[in-house]
Parts: sequence; C-alpha cells; structure tokens
Amino acid sequence: MPIDSHSLHTHTCGELRASDIGQTVTLTGWVWHRRDHGGLIFIDLRDREGLTQISFDPDVSGEAFTSAETVRPEWPIKVTGTVSPRPEGQANRNLATGEIEVIASAIEVLNTSKVPPFQIEDVLESSEDLRLRYRYLDLRRPKMMANMRLRSDFTFAIRQALHDRLFMEVETPALFKSTPEGARDFLVPSRTQPGHFYALPQSPQLLKQLLMISGVERYYQVAKCFRDEDLRADRQPEFTQVDVEMAFVSQDDVMNALEDVLKDAFAKVGVDMPTPLRRMPYWEAMDTYGSDKPDTRLGMEIHDVTPVFASSKFKLFASAATTEGMYIKAINAKGAGTWARSKIDKLSGVAAEFGAKGLAYVAFRADGSVTSPIVKFFSDEEMAGLRSEMAVEPGDLVLFAVGTRLEADEILGGMRNHMAGELGIERAGHDFLWVVDFPLFHWDDENERFASEHQPFTQPEESQIELLSSEDRDAVLSIGSHTYDFVMDGYEAGGGGMRIHNAALQMQILKLLGFDEEGAREQFGFLMDALEYGAPPMGGFALGLDRVCMLLAGADSIREVMAFPKTTSGSDLMSSAPSAVSERQLTDVSLKLL
Ligand code: AMO
Repeated sequence: MPIDSHSLHTHTCGELRASDIGQTVTLTGWVWHRRDHGGLIFIDLRDREGLTQISFDPDVSGEAFTSAETVRPEWPIKVTGTVSPRPEGQANRNLATGEIEVIASAIEVLNTSKVPPFQIEDVLESSEDLRLRYRYLDLRRPKMMANMRLRSDFTFAIRQALHDRLFMEVETPALFKSTPEGARDFLVPSRTQPGHFYALPQSPQLLKQLLMISGVERYYQVAKCFRDEDLRADRQPEFTQVDVEMAFVSQDDVMNALEDVLKDAFAKVGVDMPTPLRRMPYWEAMDTYGSDKPDTRLGMEIHDVTPVFASSKFKLFASAATTEGMYIKAINAKGAGTWARSKIDKLSGVAAEFGAKGLAYVAFRADGSVTSPIVKFFSDEEMAGLRSEMAVEPGDLVLFAVGTRLEADEILGGMRNHMAGELGIERAGHDFLWVVDFPLFHWDDENERFASEHQPFTQPEESQIELLSSEDRDAVLSIGSHTYDFVMDGYEAGGGGMRIHNAALQMQILKLLGFDEEGAREQFGFLMDALEYGAPPMGGFALGLDRVCMLLAGADSIREVMAFPKTTSGSDLMSSAPSAVSERQLTDVSLKLL
C-alpha cells in the first residue's frame, strides 16, 4: 500500500503512472484549473505532490459530470475514477503523471472556496505583501511547496549526518539571558519577577559551551535564534541555525568533521560539495575579492596597483602611493569598457554606497582608444604598467579605489558584485569555501573601543596572546583568531571558531571589549564560573539554515524558504504581529507604555 494512502484517498496527485492504468483510485486535492472542452470537463487536481488530470465524460461520469460543472478553483474535492491512458497525442511529457488521466465516476465536494486574492501559480503577479498576508495560499504554489520540501529534506539530511557521527541533539531554552552576537536582544518581561526580563537567545552560544563543560562532547541543535537587527533579504529577526559544538578537539578536527557532515547532507539533496574545501585567509579574501564572503566564480580579482603610480602626475594617486598605509587598487570589469561614458560615470554613485569619494576609471574601447577623465595624467610607462598588471584587452573597464587597505578592498568588493550583476556574469553550480583566520577584533569607531570580529568567546591566536596587553591599538588589532566562516555562493552561510576555555583569558578579553569585572560577572558570571571547573578545549560552528536553503532553492531571499517570514519592518502581515496588548496583560508583567 502506498505510504500516503488513507480513508479519503488511495494515492497522491503526483503518483499515478502508465503502470497504474486500469486501477480504480480515489484522489483528494484542490481544483487547480477547470477546462470545459466539447462536452468533456477536465480538472487539474493539485495536492502537495503534484497534479493529476481528471476527466469527466457525461456518458461515463453520470452525476459526477453535473457536479464537476459547478466546482471552482481552490475548492477541495475528492474524486474516484479509473486510471486511463491519455488519448493519442495528448500525453504531457513535462508532467510526472502526464501519460495518464483519471476518468471520474464520482466526485465529492469537500468544501468551497472564496476566489483567492491571487492565482495559485508559480508565475507571480502579486505583490509580496499580498502573498505574506495570505501565506497559506501562497504556500500552495508548487514552487513554495517544493521549497518547503527541500528545506525539510536538507534539515533531515544534516540531522541524520550529525546523528550518524555521534552528535547528540540537545534543546536549549528560548527564555534565557542575553547572549551577545552583535544584535539587540528581544526581551520578554517576567510576570513573577517584576522588572526582570528574559532575553531570547541570539544563538545558543553560551549554552553549547556549557554543554561541552558538561561532557556532551558532540552537540548539535536545529535552533531558533532571535536578533533584533535591521532586516535584509538574507536576514530575519527569527531564523534557524544548525548549531554544532565539539570538545577535546583542534580547529582542524572541527573543520574536517563539518566538511564531512556538510558533504553528506548536500549529497542527499543532489549537490556535490567537493572536499577538502579551500581555506582562504581573511586578508587574502579581502585583498583579492574585497569581501569576507567572496563569490569566487565572478572573476574580477582586485589588484594592488600602488607601485605603478609611485611617481604619478595624478595627485590623488601620487599622494596615496607615497603615504604609508594608503593604497590604489583596481579591478578589471571585462566587457564594460564598451559602455557609454554617461553609463560609466553613473558608477561613481554606486561606489559611493561602498564608501568611495569618487570613482576613477579607464575604459579601453574596442577600437583601441581610451576614455578616462584621468588618463591624461598618466605617463606611457604608467599606462603600460597598468595594462600589464590588469591584463587589459580591448573592451575592458578598469575601476580604481583609493584608501586604506580595507577601504580600497571594500569599495572594489562592492563594485565587483555590482559589475557582475550588470554584466550578467554566470554563476554556474555552487561555490563553497572557508574563510579563516579573521582578526580577533576590529575597531568600533562609534563607541571608540575594540569589538569582537566574531564573538567575545573566540580563542585568540596563541602566539599573539601577549599582545592583548599592548598599549598599541594596531598591535591589538593585529591579533589573529581561530575562526572560520563557511561561504556559499558569496553568502556567509555559517560561522564558527575555537573557544576560550580559560577563565582568566576570557576575563581579559571581556575587559578589552569594555566590560569591567563586575559587569562581566553580572552578564557572564555563570560562564566564568563554569570555565573554572575543568572546561575542555572546544570549538564549533553554526550553519545558517535559511540561507543555505535559499541558495539550494535558487531563491533570492530567505523569505522564500520560510513558511511564515516577517517583512523588512518586522511585521507578520497575516496575523498583524507585533500588535498592541491589553492594559491587563501589561499590568501582569508590571509594564507601562511610554
Ligand atoms: P553567527 O552570528 O555568524 O554565529 O551566525 C551563524 C550563521 O547564522 C546565519 N545568520 C542569519 N540568518 C538569517 N537571519 C539572520 N538575522 C542571521 N544572522 C545570522 C548566518 C551566519 O553565518 N554562535 C555563533 C556560531 C558559533 O561560533 O558557533 C553564531 O551565532 O548564515
């Protein structure tokens, strides 16, 4: 008996094949399309597995034919009939059930439906707001159903891969204390302890470290995380991580184990992730691709052209080339050298978004001429140097950025992505790599202090630990860390690192991050205490499940792989959350609105 067979139907709508011809079957589903053709009625019956054509012939179907005339799109119905070959020449090879149809003998209308606010079709004609308001209808679209299936399959595969390797799934609380991952917390007021709040976890980070101290050794959890931050296509306030932690391990052990698990899980959804994955140091990623999450399929690598312009007559370049810590860098956007000057000039507006004050360029025209506002300042030698460094060919557009190492990298990283989009550079297959060795800290200009590049519990590079007490800011900023981000198709799909398992070192880092001893104890006292009870070496990782599923589904937003996502302003348009609550509810938790 088929797995999905029960009292209302014998088969799903995606199941019947030519080998079933002659069987009497009962199907349930929604009326998708109804066509009346020369005395016959055809209904495409849809359920989550697919579509089956039902035909009603007045001579065979009797009363069912009369009922079939009344049904409308999105009515749920139950149909009994005989599986039959489609008439000569009418088979549909693009459809799994396309060789057969069910000739109905009975139909039962299970319910009616209002006319949906948009058509349940994969070709979208409705706004996303409308789709989110009627999400239960939007999810009926085959593409959305396929996305949910893919997410379910991948989540199951990764759970199984972890379980097979002796990882233990442990649930951790959602009502907890603030865990700093760099965003604001969502707070939940306590009723029983007026004026006190839980924080919804930004990740299970501290709890999984405690589980390592508990002896779990190999932990995982498909965990909901909550972060009150500005939303984007790849960010939601509530999202899911596949969270992992291991004890008594080195960084290589963790990364190798993760590669093995990810390869296995991706294979189960038909994606080959070749291992070992490339491990690219952070600065190599920044200097080559201008991003700590590079898409290496796009080409257009960044080149440092500072030496070419060491004695340039172009003041901006000359002054950068002779100032310590300043760079002139460039990318070559092949194909854009044929653009009209007005179109190239508009790129400076784009570069401004990435921090550029202007955008110098040289367009190498197909006829051998050159268009550029700055080329008149270049000597023949500089031109030759540029052509050779950037491997210039006719039709190329060389774009420059001037700034500190990171500024120049980030401007060109942004331009590289922009130009790849404009030039329609193909992104075939998937691009997987690790970016490793992030700096431990960056400088937070706004608050004038060090901030963790990853998070406050990251293990610093052992050989540089003494620099933690240096007075020299640059020396502290030069400290490396045991960190790794999993990059997929130009997205940060996961991140992790080795953890500090020494209480004194943890306190030293918290102090550098601006905590005083008392503040650190107040917020992380339980961690500091636990670290003093034989904490083992440990490290871990969290995979952004929504992002990975988005990339697997070929979608451009994580909302496409989440059943009930929120809008960019954090609303659920279906339930109207967040919403006002009653005076009574506020009093219960001792709150008064401002
Ligand atoms: P991190 O903060 O890098 O690490 O998060 C891990 C991964 O989660 C995904 N992610 C998000 N996805 C959707 N919406 C969001 N708002 C969002 N924020 C993050 C990303 C990211 O790579 N505790 C550490 C992990 C560790 O060190 O083990 C952590 O949470 O894909």
